Amino acid sequence: MASTVNSPSTPITLPKISSIQTPFLPKTSQLSIFKKKKPFNFVSKKVVSCKASNEQSSSPNRRDVLLGLGGLYGATNLVSDPFALAAPVAAPDLSLCEKSTVTSKSAGTIKVACCPPKSTNIIDFKPPKFSKIRYRPAAHIVDSEYLDKFKEAMEKMKALPEDDPRNFMQQANVHCAYCNGGYDNGDQNQELQIHFSWLFYPFHRWYLYFYERILGKMIDDPNFAMPFWNWDSPRGMVIPEMYVDPNSPLYDEKRNENHQPPKMLDLDYAGTEEELSKRDLIKSNLSVMYRQMVSNKTASLFHGQPYRTGDKPSPGMGAIENNPHTAVHRWVGDKKQPYSEDMGNFYSAGRDPLFYAHHSNVDRMWNIWKSLPGKKPGKKRTDFADTDWLDSSFLFYDENANLNRVKVRDALDTRNLGYDYQRVDIPWLKNKPTPRRPGKGRGQGHGRGQAVAAETKAASVIRNAFPIVLDKVVRIEVPRPKKSRTKHEKEDEEEVLVLQNIQVDRDIAVKFDVYINDEDDETPTEPEDSEFAGSFTNIPHNHHKPGVKLDTNLTLPLSDLLEDLDVEGDDNIEVTLVPKEGKGLVSIGNIKIDYIQD
Ligand code: C2O
Repeated sequence: MASTVNSPSTPITLPKISSIQTPFLPKTSQLSIFKKKKPFNFVSKKVVSCKASNEQSSSPNRRDVLLGLGGLYGATNLVSDPFALAAPVAAPDLSLCEKSTVTSKSAGTIKVACCPPKSTNIIDFKPPKFSKIRYRPAAHIVDSEYLDKFKEAMEKMKALPEDDPRNFMQQANVHCAYCNGGYDNGDQNQELQIHFSWLFYPFHRWYLYFYERILGKMIDDPNFAMPFWNWDSPRGMVIPEMYVDPNSPLYDEKRNENHQPPKMLDLDYAGTEEELSKRDLIKSNLSVMYRQMVSNKTASLFHGQPYRTGDKPSPGMGAIENNPHTAVHRWVGDKKQPYSEDMGNFYSAGRDPLFYAHHSNVDRMWNIWKSLPGKKPGKKRTDFADTDWLDSSFLFYDENANLNRVKVRDALDTRNLGYDYQRVDIPWLKNKPTPRRPGKGRGQGHGRGQAVAAETKAASVIRNAFPIVLDKVVRIEVPRPKKSRTKHEKEDEEEVLVLQNIQVDRDIAVKFDVYINDEDDETPTEPEDSEFAGSFTNIPHNHHKPGVKLDTNLTLPLSDLLEDLDVEGDDNIEVTLVPKEGKGLVSIGNIKIDYIQD
């Protein structure tokens, strides 16, 4: 059995495939998982594929530009050595905070006041003293004594004066301002956006840290720990009971009415209801978790892409932020509201008490990720060592309403912040996706996306054309610069698929899936198949200049997948892009294969 310890100090070992058994699935579902797949034959394929180029991105990153500008930039930035430029994202200037713009195609544009009370007195955060570690409990198994305390704390937080920065709405607005264009990133032309980059995990960790301290303060219990929504485990795959009582301060009416308990959560949710049996849905969910957590081994695959001061926002999301984080937001939010409030839009997500339990589990995934085996045998996974990440900073009001400046480097270990997570089983460690077996008839007629399967089979064809507009299923042949790499090379560098310059309006919900070498078959590719490389998602949000499109990148790990499909010797892979939500509204600038260390 796998270890169920969540602390990064205790490495988790993955179970051997041969010993896999799960209580939820018949053993037969694991049969012949090592069956060899024949190499993909492009010649015999009657599709004309678009050849992806392997050139460098045309948009240089900020650092290259800075280096190019050399002394000019240095002179204005108090840095004399252009090669020693530090460019961490700086904490925003609250006095420059602007109202957020929220738009949707159907409801138009509104302005929302999300800025926090101003304060000129900023304290540099010092790690707290505490007498014991607070353990955040799984929300579905807390006792009534805990629940009473939690509800009392929430009630008191909601009852604080409106202009108290610890007030419930003020706390919700923290998310709105940092995520919907309230602040600049070192330059009036660049907005600060803490999603779609390496700031996602540390920002939300700090946000929840102060939220929890405030809750504790409300009930005079500095040891109070907020709950986490254990959606990665079958029993946690419904909205936790405590959040659905209309008389509770944990309730929010702006949620999808069809997703109340006992409706089971879909971690691959794309805006439509799927007719999956409970068993198939559990299997799908656990497979999503395995891929996002286990296969994404490097810091940038997990956390997201580097984002420094003055950079354009949204360089690229990490694995968990992309999915299932987005799926949970979209699944909870109410699509009947003008802007998919509350959870379905960044500006309003923090208004649902469930948001904090959702993000608590996202945060827990960071701890678990660090305890999983890394690329090299016997080596743990590591966060970035880049000081631009470590020194990035944010501002938050603490439990005494003092404004704190915090740095990413102080958030790497939750135990230094005085908290950890209750140990619960981690069932997805046993759910490694397996190669598709043609004709296995899985979920026939009841599976996900039968229509998509037919469309994929009809193999819409593109020639020459980047950018690609994703108005239908698209197949692209992508050349591999290296093949049959040695074990050593693979331990050193992860082979990744990079989708560059993905452009879409920020205010629409998007999901498209990426499959590798998914041969023609009657059954659709699903998360439990090795061929499923990952998804791209967007939660509606806005830029401080409405109309500026999201322009981002998606990086997906390939090393394990190519090994599982036994196609490491191939010169090319075939990439299938399947629009699930936001069809026709997304374009992709280029697709290439790259090799990364971090
Ligand atoms: Cu800041 Cu779940 O979003």
